[in-house]
Amino acid sequence: MSEETRVQIEARKREHLDLSLRPEVQGNGAGLEGIHLPYDALFECKAVDTRSRMGKIGLSFPLMIGAMTGGTCFAAAFNTVLRRYAAEHDIALCLGSMRAALLDDSLLETYGSGDLEALFANIGISELFVYPSEKIAETARRMGASGLFIHLNGLQEYVQNEGNRDYGCALDDLRRFVDSFPMPCFIKEVGSGLGGRCACRLALLNIAGAESASRGGTSWVKLEGMRRKKAISAVNMAALDQVGYGLAQSIRDLRAALGARTVIASGGIRNSLDIVKALALGADVVAMAQPVYAAYHDSGASGMRDFLDETIDIAKLIWRSTGAADIGQLKACLA
Ligand SMILES: Cc1cc2nc3c(=O)[nH]c(=O)nc-3n(C[C@H](O)[C@H](O)[C@H](O)COP(=O)(O)O)c2cc1C
Repeated sequence: MSEETRVQIEARKREHLDLSLRPEVQGNGAGLEGIHLPYDALFECKAVDTRSRMGKIGLSFPLMIGAMTGGTCFAAAFNTVLRRYAAEHDIALCLGSMRAALLDDSLLETYGSGDLEALFANIGISELFVYPSEKIAETARRMGASGLFIHLNGLQEYVQNEGNRDYGCALDDLRRFVDSFPMPCFIKEVGSGLGGRCACRLALLNIAGAESASRGGTSWVKLEGMRRKKAISAVNMAALDQVGYGLAQSIRDLRAALGARTVIASGGIRNSLDIVKALALGADVVAMAQPVYAAYHDSGASGMRDFLDETIDIAKLIWRSTGAADIGQLKACLA
């Protein structure tokens, strides 16, 4: 990688992290407000079994720290903290896009160190066909990953200064990749959501599951809009920001399309109640990205650990208060 490209990538990654903290890039259309969980004032359920699965991998609690960063010095320390937390709590972690490591394998170490089973690598669809799949697999393996998340981001690419204007993917190309890739593959969006027809098309592939990354959480349209040199008008930004699916809709659509495969709910999960609601709507696992970085930014590694510990504890309490003893019962509690 030329020094200039490395500097550009480093600057962009830093900007993404910084801008993700701005309240203007946070959406409010997740659609969880209208969901009301049952509440058993007797608390007859004394303990809950919070185990779940991501493909073949078991988790003690159905939480994943969503894909964020890699490729910078800052990322190395942050990813190591995330790996350690995820390993200790037997939850999942998806690393940020592996693009930097594909360009320059000396940047592999910026994806952090520390082993865990539920560790996933991440790649954008625009890079998927640029590199041989053996190189992608080898890079994922060297990160210690046991699966790959492929992110779809058509709106982000359009708004991003450096974005791919030819964005688009043929299902058959994706099928060929997934069929030959030596690890389980998951597909995700990055803030506009998976749902409806797209979920049914993805279900035709041999994927282990899909992550919604719906509208309502961090908006990559708004975030890239802030970085853009030639501004898009406020009315058209507002229009773009309404394209896609809110979280509640995505969960239902993905569950209907994917059957028994893993559904990961993300995009606007901000607290313990959101986690339990998303599970009750049918998700197997719930992912959170921006709030984890915000806690790390505001209060360091120990503050981030406290935030996640508390969120998991209170989610367990809320889960127990529904009277559901396990994830199967929780998914049935809104029926
Ligand atoms: C700072 C930051 C960087 C991100 N980088 C990536 C990435 O490299 N790859 C990816 O698939 N998603 C990336 N995302 C998207 C998240 O994984 C997630 O899908 C999205 O932000 C919605 O979750 P949230 O509302 O909890 O933030 C990033 C999110 C944030 C906040």
